Amino acid sequence: MAENITPYKDQQTAKKEQVANMFNNISKTYDFLNHFMSLGIDIIWRKKAIKELLTDKPQEILDVATGTGDFAFEALEILKPKKIIGVDISRGMLDIAQEKITKRKKQDVFEVRLGDSEKLLFDDNTFDAVTVAYGVRNYENLEKGIADMLRVLKPGGKVVILEFSKPRNFPIKQLYNFYFHYITPTIGKIFSKDSSAYSYLPESVEAFPDGERFTSLMEKVGYKNTKWRSLTFGICSIYTGNK
Ligand SMILES: C[S@@+](CC[C@H](N)C(=O)[O-])C[C@H]1O[C@@H](n2cnc3c(N)ncnc32)[C@H](O)[C@@H]1O
Repeated sequence: MAENITPYKDQQTAKKEQVANMFNNISKTYDFLNHFMSLGIDIIWRKKAIKELLTDKPQEILDVATGTGDFAFEALEILKPKKIIGVDISRGMLDIAQEKITKRKKQDVFEVRLGDSEKLLFDDNTFDAVTVAYGVRNYENLEKGIADMLRVLKPGGKVVILEFSKPRNFPIKQLYNFYFHYITPTIGKIFSKDSSAYSYLPESVEAFPDGERFTSLMEKVGYKNTKWRSLTFGICSIYTGNK
């Protein structure tokens, strides 16, 4: 199991509470910094991940750790489902998602709720698909979080998880480490209200059990047909599995 990396080293509170506070603090600059620091590649990664569901044609989708809603908006655009519910533990992030939903007039198909992946407030076997982008590495208890996502999936339903991973080959590994450890925290410090958030980012990626270690964990909690593939030299990975 990954080391429990928290955003604020000087605080004794649980990881979940710290993560929620951190995302509340950065919610207003989150979208801008995401696209700026990834040079817009995060949008391509989200699209690629959502396309994993094209042949499944899911109608009821749960987007966990929905944040400001960008992964769910991609799913709406590409898959045209009947309904997407987004849950997140950060009220601040959901407020931004709600503003975007209203502005884009998507309130009939996209709804957001405060909720925790480790204790989802839905019945067993509710959704055709469950999606998470850049969320799982923030879970306090990763195993519990992905197990509860499996519980709410319908039998045969599919999970799609997009998460940062660690490039392993020269020179991408070295460039990536430099960018993530020096450039991102500096840009984060300048533009966001929370300087810890962008130091926590590389630390949480470092501690995350990526690649086969993650598909093994998915299988351990009961997912079937688990697969993973890396994107852009291994900076990001897509994981899928069925119930
Ligand atoms: C990096 S953001 C990703 C947001 C969005 N999915 C995207 O693609 O931009 C991670 C989100 O995970 C949420 N989160 C972390 N732990 C969570 C949990 N246990 N349950 C629900 N949401 C969680 C955070 O509040 C934050 O909004």
